[in-house]
Amino acid sequence: MTSINSNYLNLQGSYLFSEIAKRRTKFIEENPQAEIISLGIGDVTRGLPDAVTKAMHAAIDELAAPGSFRGYGPEQGYDFLVNTIIENDYRARGVDIQSNEVFVSDGSKCDVGNIQEIFSQDAVVAVQDPVYPVYVDTNVMAGRSGPFNSDIGRYENIVYLDCTAENNFKPSLPDRKVDLIYLCYPNNPTGMTLTKDELKVWVDYARENNCLILFDSAYEAFITEADVPHSIYEVEGAREVAIEFRSFSKTAGFTGVRCAYTVVPRELRGFDKDGNTVFINDLWNRRHTTKFNGVSYVTQRGAEAIYSAQGKEQIRSLVDYYMTNAGIIRDGLRSLGLEVFGGVNAPYIWLKTPNGLDSWAFFDKLLSEANIVGTPGVGFGRSGQGYFRLTAFGSRENTEKAVERIRKLSL
Ligand code: MLT
Repeated sequence: MTSINSNYLNLQGSYLFSEIAKRRTKFIEENPQAEIISLGIGDVTRGLPDAVTKAMHAAIDELAAPGSFRGYGPEQGYDFLVNTIIENDYRARGVDIQSNEVFVSDGSKCDVGNIQEIFSQDAVVAVQDPVYPVYVDTNVMAGRSGPFNSDIGRYENIVYLDCTAENNFKPSLPDRKVDLIYLCYPNNPTGMTLTKDELKVWVDYARENNCLILFDSAYEAFITEADVPHSIYEVEGAREVAIEFRSFSKTAGFTGVRCAYTVVPRELRGFDKDGNTVFINDLWNRRHTTKFNGVSYVTQRGAEAIYSAQGKEQIRSLVDYYMTNAGIIRDGLRSLGLEVFGGVNAPYIWLKTPNGLDSWAFFDKLLSEANIVGTPGVGFGRSGQGYFRLTAFGSRENTEKAVERIRKLSL
C-alpha cells in the first residue's frame, strides 16, 4: 500500500468550479432543452485578438522553417517577452523591474498555487474571505491550514480577513502575527479595489511586521478609476515585501492559450532555520527551473503581440466589451432593487442574494428558473454566504438575455 499525503483529505468538498460544472452538467442531462447561460467561472468568450493570432501563426512558421526551429526555451521566459512586459507594464508606470525578477509561466492559478511551496511549513497564512479558493486549498494540501473546524466553517490555522458590506469589502489588518498575506486586487470575487493609500497601509504593515504579500493582480487591465494602482510596486517599499502575479488570461483571451507572469523582486528576503538570509527570488527561480520547462515559443510570441500598437488597441476593445457587459449586469440588477457591488474596476459583479436566500439556494433557483449558471458566494468562503458572483465575460447577447431572465424571476 502506498501512503498518501493525508493533507488532501483535509480539503473540503471538490474544487468550487468543478462542483459548479458538475451541477451544470447534471442539470443539462435532466433538462436537455434548456438554453444555459454561463456566467459562473470567469472564462472569456471573445476570440483572440488579431495581432496575437498573426504573431502566433508567424511563430509556428518560424518553428517549421529550416534554421529557425527552437526547442526548450529559458524556463523564465524569452527576453523578448520579459523585456516587453517590463517596458509596458512597469517602466511606463514609473516602476523599475529587472529582467531576472520576471518569471513567465502558463498561468496565474499555477503560480499563486505553487508559490507557497518555497515557504516554511509553519508559515501562518492570511487570506481575505471571500477568497479565490486556490490560495486556501494549496495551503491545505501543503499541511499549513490545520484541521477544518466545521463549527466555524474555517481552517483553524488560517487567518481569515473578512471582507463584508460592513467594511466595504476592504479587510482589516491581521490581529495576530502572520507570515504570508494573499491580497487580490481588483478583487476576485467581489470586484472591489483598494486605492494607493489603502494599499500602502498593507505594504507598511508588511514591512513593519516581516511578512510577505502575495499580490494577485490578474484583473489589473479592468481598472477604470484613476486612483486605483495597477501594480503593488507603485507603492513605495513594496519591492521589499511583495510578489505580484499577472495574467494574460482575461485580458487577451488566453484562458485556453495559457500565459502569465510573476514578479519576484531581488529585495525580498526570507530566513532559514538558523536565521540566515535567503533571497526569495533565488528560491522561486530554483523551483521554476526544476519543475517547469517554459511557456511555448508560439504562446510567448502571441503574448508579446499584446503590447504592439495594434495589440493594445485590440485588448482595449476586448476589455471595454466586457466592462460594458459588467455595466449591463450591474445596472440591470440594481434596477430590480438588488444590492450590487463591483463591476466598475473588475469583470465581476457581487450581489447580495434576495430574500435572505443562501448562496447555493440562489444558485439552484437561478439555474432551474432562469437557466443561468453563476457562482455561489459561499464557495469563496464563509463571508461570501448570502452573496453571489456573476461574470461579465459572457457574450453581449447572453449578458442582456441573462438580465432579462432575472427580471422575470420572482425575487
Ligand atoms: C474565476 O472564475 O474565479 C476564475 O476564472 C478562476 C481562474 O482564473 O482560475
